[in-house]
Amino acid sequence: MKAITRTAYGQPEDVLQLKEIEKPIPKEDEILIRVYATTVNRTDCGILTGKPYIMRAFTGLWKPKDLVPGTDFAGQVEAIGKKVTTFSIGDRVFGLHDEGLSSHAEYMTIKADKAVTQIPDNIDYASAAASCEGAHYAANFLSRLKLKKGDKVLVNGATGAIGSAGLQLVKNLGMQVTAVGNTKNLELLRSLGADKVFDYEKEDFTKDDERYHLIFDAVGKSSFPACKHLLLPNGIYSSSELGPNAQNLYLPLITWIKGGKRVIFPIPRNCRKSILSMAKLLAEGRFKAVIDRTYPMEQVSDAYKFVMSGQKTGNVILDFS
Ligand SMILES: NC(=O)c1ccc[n+]([C@@H]2O[C@H](COP(=O)([O-])OP(=O)(O)OC[C@H]3O[C@@H](n4cnc5c(N)ncnc54)[C@H](OP(=O)(O)O)[C@@H]3O)[C@@H](O)[C@H]2O)c1
Repeated sequence: MKAITRTAYGQPEDVLQLKEIEKPIPKEDEILIRVYATTVNRTDCGILTGKPYIMRAFTGLWKPKDLVPGTDFAGQVEAIGKKVTTFSIGDRVFGLHDEGLSSHAEYMTIKADKAVTQIPDNIDYASAAASCEGAHYAANFLSRLKLKKGDKVLVNGATGAIGSAGLQLVKNLGMQVTAVGNTKNLELLRSLGADKVFDYEKEDFTKDDERYHLIFDAVGKSSFPACKHLLLPNGIYSSSELGPNAQNLYLPLITWIKGGKRVIFPIPRNCRKSILSMAKLLAEGRFKAVIDRTYPMEQVSDAYKFVMSGQKTGNVILDFS
């Protein structure tokens, strides 16, 4: 089968190779999937370069433990292990494992009880693949908060994979959402449910008079000190990035001890729960995957370089069909 491979950490143009390798054979508790679409996402970029170094505790200390990169997929079940009862050959499935799943290949295997489930009938492969990584992180951040219907939420970086998912997830919960993005995507942000938008290329949301129950910075371009005055009493600031001097790692403890306005920085977990809830939202028409562009597998290096620029809108698809 054709697969993207790499044997060292590094930049895409230096380490990625499209190769012919052995097709995997599913174990008795696994399914074999013909991958049709996968994304190149920020987690893939971290795993490719081995940075931040902390990631190497999971992905391989000196060199990547997996020959094939890729963390999410959408495809069709081609074979099942003899103990598998929850999937059938021909099922359309999607899923995620953010420590690596070797999904940048024509075929991959996954244990049937991991983060994999059926794709709803109304959803195509690209949209399914684009509903995994960013949605998982957004769901993880939001699931740690006690928010109520009607609460005011600001999402910074709402055009990204995490931000566009976060915007829709909070809107689904009945909150009033303000979204911050670039000029070209303001209409997109409104179409995803934003009640109010800020164009960060023209205005500074930190100078506004509105106050929020939650500020969710899904791009890590702000900080708690810069946003604190925008929070209501007991309001929460959460970011997907570590912030200046990795402050989002220690501010949760300091602000918890002090009381009042708080920072939270949840460690992502439970990919399976995220995938099952995304399948439900997709089936109900309550989530729209945002796709910036699609690359053929031969142009994987260009796909990584574009994602690393930090300028994608939503998700970047690798087409393996
Ligand atoms: N904590 C975790 O577990 C975790 C996991 C995955 C990713 N991350 C991090 O989370 C961040 C977001 O990930 P992602 O996949 O959503 O990234 P992404 O898709 O690259 O999203 C970033 C978005 O923010 C926009 N943007 C850039 N500068 C901005 C600014 N000053 N104000 C508002 N928007 C701005 C970008 O578009 P324009 O530049 O065109 O405006 C882009 O659409 C990344 O920094 C990533 O490393 C964290």
